[in-house]
Amino acid sequence: MVSKNQDRNIHLPLGDQRTARFYGRDILSVKQFSKEDLNYIFEVAHEMREMVARIGTFDLLKGKILANLFYEPSTRTSSSFTSAMERLGGSVIPINEVRYSSVSKGESLPDTIRTLECYTDVIVLRHPEVGASALAAQYARKPILNAGDGIGEHPTQALLDLYTIVEELGNAENLTVTMLGDLKYGRTVHSLSRLLSLFNVKLHYVSPEILRMPPEIIEEINDKDILQSEHTDLSEVLPDTDVLYVTRVQKERFDTPADYDSVKDAYVITPEVMRKAKHRMIVMHPLPRVGEISMDFDSDPRAAYFRQMEYGLYVRMALLAMVLGKA
Ligand code: NCD
Repeated sequence: MVSKNQDRNIHLPLGDQRTARFYGRDILSVKQFSKEDLNYIFEVAHEMREMVARIGTFDLLKGKILANLFYEPSTRTSSSFTSAMERLGGSVIPINEVRYSSVSKGESLPDTIRTLECYTDVIVLRHPEVGASALAAQYARKPILNAGDGIGEHPTQALLDLYTIVEELGNAENLTVTMLGDLKYGRTVHSLSRLLSLFNVKLHYVSPEILRMPPEIIEEINDKDILQSEHTDLSEVLPDTDVLYVTRVQKERFDTPADYDSVKDAYVITPEVMRKAKHRMIVMHPLPRVGEISMDFDSDPRAAYFRQMEYGLYVRMALLAMVLGKA
């Protein structure tokens, strides 16, 4: 991780090395995190959760400004970052509709970033191209938080996903995690599988043939001695699954509508399907869902996807406080 505040780090009190490790940093990929980092993020997220329950909003980031720059649609990611910043007493410049900004006049990403950082302290960026956040980070002096770069990564989502697993199941060790759906274009599973490879887990990938997990990610995870297996039939792995991570088929990434139509209804989680799963396990989904989990399943205690959304608020509060040196 490269710090945008090297000079300032030198003057930080030695007291909390962990704060210094995040202060001024970009969050671009889950590859940058160690287990120790995760423990620290989750510790801070836990404190955030308690503070929100106790007092709702407080002044940790009073006077700080976040730019929320979204070149792709978002509900949860953009509004949870907004809520996170405002609960910490900061404020937000939302640029959700880039078509009303100078981007529509042909402004380059580096120029838009250089502009926004004049007015803000931290930038959250979602962009359709892989590597866009890394590019932005090269030009920015302020921290860039990757909120999804095309089919690349979605590191803050993976952090909240892992936090959900830890909160719901106690810890992330010795679990069997099954990822289901669009593993080719789904950036959330690209980040989560990499992040989970820090733990002793078994990973099952269940998808239609044309939506398999990219081979380079499988190889990367294989190098860490993690057991991985690929399937097209969920019933082969559902009975020993501890975490079933369901994803939406990413319609917007397909070359032709016919390709999308051929796989869009490949898997649907229903109470009936879930009769074959363990009693103590969880079903997760980054949301939005478009039919891959039936609403009939929502009242099942194993349905963790709405709780998962809420955990996202605390994790994003933690990340903002940490990169701004206030955790
Ligand atoms: C995901 C995304 O944008 O990658 N949504 C999210 O951030 N919660 C998943 C999706 O769009 O399917």
